[in-house]
Amino acid sequence: MNHPKIIQGGMGIGVSNWKLARAVSISGGLGVVSSTALDTLMVRRLFHKDEDTKRALLKFPLKNISEKILDNYYGEKNNNKGYPQLPFFSVDIRDELIALTIAANFVEVYLAKEGHSNPVGINLLEKVQMPTLYSLYGAMLAGVDYVIMGAGIPREIPGILDKLSAGHDAELNLYVSGAQSGESYKMHFSPKKFMGKQLNLKRPYFFPIVSSNTLATTLMKKSNGKIDGLIIENYSAGGHNAPPRVKGVFHDNGSPVYGDKDIVNLDKIKELDIPFFLAGSFVTPEIISKTIDEAGASGIQVGTIFALTSESGFEESIKLEIVNKIKNNTINIFTDPMASPTGFPFKVASIKGTLSEQDIYDNRPRVCNLRYLAELYKDENGNIGYRCPAEPINEYLKKGGKIEETVGRKCLCNALLANIGYGNTYKNGYKEPYLITLGDSVSLISHFLPDEGLPSAKNVTIQLKSYIEN
Ligand SMILES: Cc1cc2nc3c(=O)[nH]c(=O)nc-3n(C[C@H](O)[C@H](O)[C@H](O)COP(=O)(O)O)c2cc1C
Repeated sequence: MNHPKIIQGGMGIGVSNWKLARAVSISGGLGVVSSTALDTLMVRRLFHKDEDTKRALLKFPLKNISEKILDNYYGEKNNNKGYPQLPFFSVDIRDELIALTIAANFVEVYLAKEGHSNPVGINLLEKVQMPTLYSLYGAMLAGVDYVIMGAGIPREIPGILDKLSAGHDAELNLYVSGAQSGESYKMHFSPKKFMGKQLNLKRPYFFPIVSSNTLATTLMKKSNGKIDGLIIENYSAGGHNAPPRVKGVFHDNGSPVYGDKDIVNLDKIKELDIPFFLAGSFVTPEIISKTIDEAGASGIQVGTIFALTSESGFEESIKLEIVNKIKNNTINIFTDPMASPTGFPFKVASIKGTLSEQDIYDNRPRVCNLRYLAELYKDENGNIGYRCPAEPINEYLKKGGKIEETVGRKCLCNALLANIGYGNTYKNGYKEPYLITLGDSVSLISHFLPDEGLPSAKNVTIQLKSYIEN
């Protein structure tokens, strides 16, 4: 199989939107949309009467669902109360949320694939488990060609893709803190029941993202179906990073120290005899040609520079500010070991007025109104609860959370939606602040930047392709 050699990384929430993915795919790369929080994002786009979303929704195969979503969410419905509050994901998920999730993933992939026949992928986070079955199915209804998944060990996904494509029921085991061994909690989805008939769909290729040889080997051995390729991501990449193998060692500025043990042995990856792609600062002709020629990689996955293109979801003003900082050599990226509620290190760009600044963080009232990153736990009565270390501290402690887990935690759900222009503004006028993630490659990408304005996804893709082909 000839997979595209340039994969544009799936960047959530909504940085890798359909516009970016479509432009990259048309230009010969693999455009990838982010699936994270698409239900909320679709509803917020509809709130602003986004016509592309409406048009795609009207192509959704179940008219009763698309019409109901438009009736409920198109335009402002609630007398200036702001964005509608959706139900939370839970083990007993509401039918309405299942339908919204399937439709939202359908819409994003449909739009990314519109008007061309090149492949398009979707990126999911393994740690965000409850939406997964529905997100995959919605994307598959729109004919998604690749599923890419990071931030965990997605052993069950290949088998789920097989089942969903055959129209069979599928289940996903959930991690529940405090559950006894032998107890299992699952999400369940019946495509036949949802669609009202048995439907066969294309089985997309599955590429997990891994950051160690052990994980790559485990996934190859223990997955319940075919893995079609691997993305090997190093710790310079934007977004979340795998924690260092040696824990508890920090630089003076508080970022974790990575060492030799964190470098993936590519010779061992080659022995797995599977296409692999390298991610994390693969942006210069020298680095790229070395990668392809010496390491034997099939290609690269690139995020940071695509996040700064005119098509990406980031607010235009913040992109222009970052590009200026890059040109002036004043951009600073910090690997924050505490910011993300997932517990994984998270790359944060130090930018004035954003949550990277202590006073902006201190002044943000803690609220948890999206809950995508909540951990599931079993309480003393045996019920399942949901807690996030970035939620109000007293709530978290009441749920058995530990105080030290709350220190420095940032509400990524709200901040990442703010970054793309869909942040909450509350009744008292408080606006959710930004928190920008980018990779260490910010110091290597000035050759992509035009004298004025932002680079285009097309030009970045073509430039990257030329580095691989030469
Ligand atoms: C703004 C941003 C958001 C990201 N979000 C995700 C994500 O949601 N899921 C994921 O698997 N990777 C995410 N990544 C990582 C990229 O998909 C990609 O692997 C990485 O950016 C490659 O390294 P580079 O930043 O040096 O190009 C993100 C990266 C950036 C810059």
